[in-house]
Amino acid sequence: MNLPDEDPPPRPGAVAGGRYGEAVFRPELAGEDDRIDLGALAYDDFTLARLRALGAGPGWHCLDVGAGTGTVARLLLDRAGVSEVLAVDRDTAFLRAHPAPGLTALEADITALDFSPGRFRLVHARFVLMHLRNWPRMIGKLASLVAPGGVLVLGDAVDLTTPAAPTTTYGRVMRAMWQGLGDSLGTDVSWVPEYPEHLREAGLLSVGAEILVPPLLPGSPISRFWAGTWERARGPMTATGLVDDAEIDAAIRYLDSPDCAALSPGLLTAWGVKGPA
Ligand SMILES: C[S@@+](CC[C@H](N)C(=O)[O-])C[C@H]1O[C@@H](n2cnc3c(N)ncnc32)[C@H](O)[C@@H]1O
Repeated sequence: MNLPDEDPPPRPGAVAGGRYGEAVFRPELAGEDDRIDLGALAYDDFTLARLRALGAGPGWHCLDVGAGTGTVARLLLDRAGVSEVLAVDRDTAFLRAHPAPGLTALEADITALDFSPGRFRLVHARFVLMHLRNWPRMIGKLASLVAPGGVLVLGDAVDLTTPAAPTTTYGRVMRAMWQGLGDSLGTDVSWVPEYPEHLREAGLLSVGAEILVPPLLPGSPISRFWAGTWERARGPMTATGLVDDAEIDAAIRYLDSPDCAALSPGLLTAWGVKGPA
């Protein structure tokens, strides 16, 4: 399996030109920062533990790509004690709302061919590449931003159950979400379990990977995250024809009920080390 240099064509049925933050998840819509923070609450401890285990600490210059509200960037500074974090996002309003010593916000589109912010001991991106149609090129691009001896850490969603799940309301709504986000943004998580191979093909060494699936408990951050995500993605989800608004409402109620008994999608984190120059 080789990573292509060319970006893949949009898949059949995809809405041309849709990008994260435009067709869906517009940052200017009230509560979008809270939705991102619920995902962060579910995963930040897991992410930080891995980054520290990989050595992130004093003296490290780090790049967080698609940094969202900046929770990982601030944890790297506050808890891991890294020297600085350049946090890049196509919209930096949420980052600028929470400044911190050592944190620099850079507004940029990471898919732009001239995106070249330097070399870093750590390059990290979580829940970003899965939304980019050109993820194969982006893996190579982000690997090129890692300094010799540094580490690339990429995390995206894995869904262990939805493709083969019985047709419960929850399963149908989750399936409609993936298809709707795929059609409108190009979101695709089918390749995420292959991250280790992709990182090795990008020339990285000592590749590893792990998965966290947070429990879907009523009121938990991950349950509230999915409810908020479905609310925001209703248009693309109902456009698939797989579900209607009433079924989405029922799935949101189910997430918050004691009857809820389902497995959430989780976060696969994969990493690899850049060899000496
Ligand atoms: C699902 S959020 C994840 C935020 C953060 N990484 C986290 O895990 O909490 C995806 C983020 O990637 C940003 N993003 C998406 N496409 C981007 C692009 N082409 N260039 C820069 N940022 C992008 C979005 O603006 C958003 O803040």
